[in-house]
Amino acid sequence: MSSFERLGVFYLGREYDPATQQLGAELLYDSRDLTTHAICIGMTGSGKTGLCVSLLEEAAIDGVPAIAIDPKGDIANLLLTFPELRPADFRPWVDDGEAARKGKSADEFAVATAETWRKGLAEWGQDGARIQRLRDAAEVAIYTPGSEAGRPLSVLRSFDAPAADTLADATALKERIGSSVAGLLALLGIEADPIKSREHILLSAILDAAWRKGESPDLAGVIRAVQKPPFDTIGVFDLESFYPAKDRTELALRINGLLAAPGFEAWLAGDPLDVQKLLYTSDGKPRISIISIAHLNDAERMFVVTLIANEVVAWMRRQPGTTSLRALFYMDEVFGFFPPSAMPPSKLPLLTLMKQARAFGIGVVLATQNPVDLDYKGLGNAGTWFIGRLQTERDKARVIEGLLGSEASGGLDKAGIEALMSNLTQRTFLMRNVHDDAPVLFRTRWAMSYLRGPLTLAEIRRVTARDPGTAGAAAARPVTAPAAAAPASSGSRPVVQHGVVERFIAAGGAKPPHYQPRVGTRVRTHYVDAKAGLDLWQTTHYLAPVGGSGPDWAQAEALAEPGPQLTDEPVAGATFDDVPAAALSARDQKRWAAALEDHVYRSVALALPSCPALKLTATAGMSEGEFRSRVALAVREKRDAAVEALRKKYAARLGTLEDRERRALQKVEKEKTQASDKSLSTALSVGGSLLGALFGGGRRGSAISKASAAARRVSSASKERADVAHAEADVEAIRDQLEALNAELETEVARLESELDPAAIAIETASVKPRKADIAVDDMALVWVP
Ligand SMILES: Nc1ncnc2c1ncn2[C@@H]1O[C@H](COP(=O)(O)OP(=O)(O)O)[C@@H](O)[C@H]1O
Ligand SMILES: [Mg+2]
Repeated sequence: MSSFERLGVFYLGREYDPATQQLGAELLYDSRDLTTHAICIGMTGSGKTGLCVSLLEEAAIDGVPAIAIDPKGDIANLLLTFPELRPADFRPWVDDGEAARKGKSADEFAVATAETWRKGLAEWGQDGARIQRLRDAAEVAIYTPGSEAGRPLSVLRSFDAPAADTLADATALKERIGSSVAGLLALLGIEADPIKSREHILLSAILDAAWRKGESPDLAGVIRAVQKPPFDTIGVFDLESFYPAKDRTELALRINGLLAAPGFEAWLAGDPLDVQKLLYTSDGKPRISIISIAHLNDAERMFVVTLIANEVVAWMRRQPGTTSLRALFYMDEVFGFFPPSAMPPSKLPLLTLMKQARAFGIGVVLATQNPVDLDYKGLGNAGTWFIGRLQTERDKARVIEGLLGSEASGGLDKAGIEALMSNLTQRTFLMRNVHDDAPVLFRTRWAMSYLRGPLTLAEIRRVTARDPGTAGAAAARPVTAPAAAAPASSGSRPVVQHGVVERFIAAGGAKPPHYQPRVGTRVRTHYVDAKAGLDLWQTTHYLAPVGGSGPDWAQAEALAEPGPQLTDEPVAGATFDDVPAAALSARDQKRWAAALEDHVYRSVALALPSCPALKLTATAGMSEGEFRSRVALAVREKRDAAVEALRKKYAARLGTLEDRERRALQKVEKEKTQASDKSLSTALSVGGSLLGALFGGGRRGSAISKASAAARRVSSASKERADVAHAEADVEAIRDQLEALNAELETEVARLESELDPAAIAIETASVKPRKADIAVDDMALVWVP
């Protein structure tokens, strides 16, 4: 089991031959194929959730995090993983009713269930150790927006202004505003056309105005803005005639109704909806974040799904591109959220994900039991189709039509798919992967998680209490001006000499401030470390207290960009502290600048998490956890590239050997016919070897012929039998070479593993001194601090 896990392939099950009802080679799915997204369709009970839970398990083992939206409660089963597989582990989760129906006590039923799971896993080559590996690889958490049963998720704080890059991108901003508003309107139960509806247009204009000002209104702020918008025209229309104040009050009241509704605080409490934090712990460990929405009504579900999909889109756009699988976005039972002709608010961000997520390594996986309610056009570029048992002819016809109209249709014909689909039973799926040569029928492997069916809110509460989460990040420390020193003597504003620039730090408070003098300046520093892949310019603002001989840089306050808010004029009525004469003259400023350059060079260093092995260094402001997730991705990219190289390297050699094997087998057959010996011999199954894993799934078709299955064995003695023996010896020799090839690959994979073990890759703190020649001090001023 463990050898293919190093290759980044997902073990989803075994190939299945409907004619013989036999299981064949392991179905190994290349994780990178998921970046072109997958869709899983099948009737209730066909095993979709089992398959997708296994997919999430495989991803987690490979360090790929996921956000899973769970409309039914089944995905929560990912929290029921018991490495020791003891009856006591299962006991709290078995269904008493089901036990009774089986004529068992709950205790007896727990024993039976534990045994079923142990046996089921063993049949599929898995055990408790693999469950432990899964548990060690990722943290699993359930969020219950609008309820405190699981971890609460503060969804309504998300009228937060988007990041600068989204603000600067007109399309991205429009999309983001559009779907935030659509989500809110959905929550209010207002069905609104984005182009015609007044509500939509007004709320969009309000968010647009707020965000452009860098404001992040909460719901109360939105209510105020509805009543008193910060503009008086909308497009070419006068606000009052477009949406009179009286009607706006009605909308405001409706939003207020949300706020006032009992239990509403639950929507505001909890972890902020932050995709990075949903995907990684603060120290960079991958997470599976399940967003459970089973307890919500339709409008609320629509709101949550829209919001989360939007946040994923926004987060995705901030990530650098990759060809490896970075994260999964999974939705179980997407019914109603991605329909063919209607345009519910959830559809836009889901479409955006389907179209754009690939470049960012985000795999979207959607499951549904209702093939008629799917926008196949939007799914057109889904690369993998998992088709399970379907109930009606209409459903089958719809799926086939959808598949044939998609990018994955290459080489498929209707009759062929129909024939394959007619053989589907529970847990058998037809997989069409655009990266493979041909579709494959397979049976899903046993899920490691205990699939006991939907968890209720009460059960989610229980399972969450058992696995308390890690606390959130520390709050940012606000920058404050230094406390006032000695009181002023005269209090009047001193007169500065020609050449001295004066600036004032903006003052809050009702009373006019008392200003303290500082020498302020801006320093540009350049940090370069070729080994760490670092080349960073940084601007820092210094505010130094001044004494008789000038500013004391060692005591200066250093502020990151954009620095303090400065004005050209003091607050009227302010008083001023004494200032040493030196600060009122520009005479010594050059000397002070030189002293600061010296100070910065000697005592300022940039401390950044870095990974020398991969020549990666965190960018300024990146948390260590975030950096670790980048490192993990970089490792995955390297591994994927190495696997691709191995494939290239071995494909030709394997192909040649297989050709020879086939010819040798034909010869054996011919000799045997002459010897009239029909006994069968066992063939080496390349499918079970590491080579098979390397060419996993349908890629095997090209590299590995299936002719070997026809091999025959010698029995008695004669001239013909001697020929047979000869031919068989040839086959044996070729198989030895195949095995040697496999062993060689094993060594390469082991080396790859030791080089690319994310756990073994050291993360250090790089302390980088600024380049002396590049330190630049400018804009020196006498700065008054209130
Ligand atoms: N991979 C699997 N391993 C173990 N049991 C499974 C697996 N897939 C399905 N089952 C069993 O079959 C039942 C129905 O499958 P499920 O995946 O929930 O179907 P669907 O999601 O298509 O409605 C599950 O509750 C579970 O008991
Ligand atoms: Mg299901």
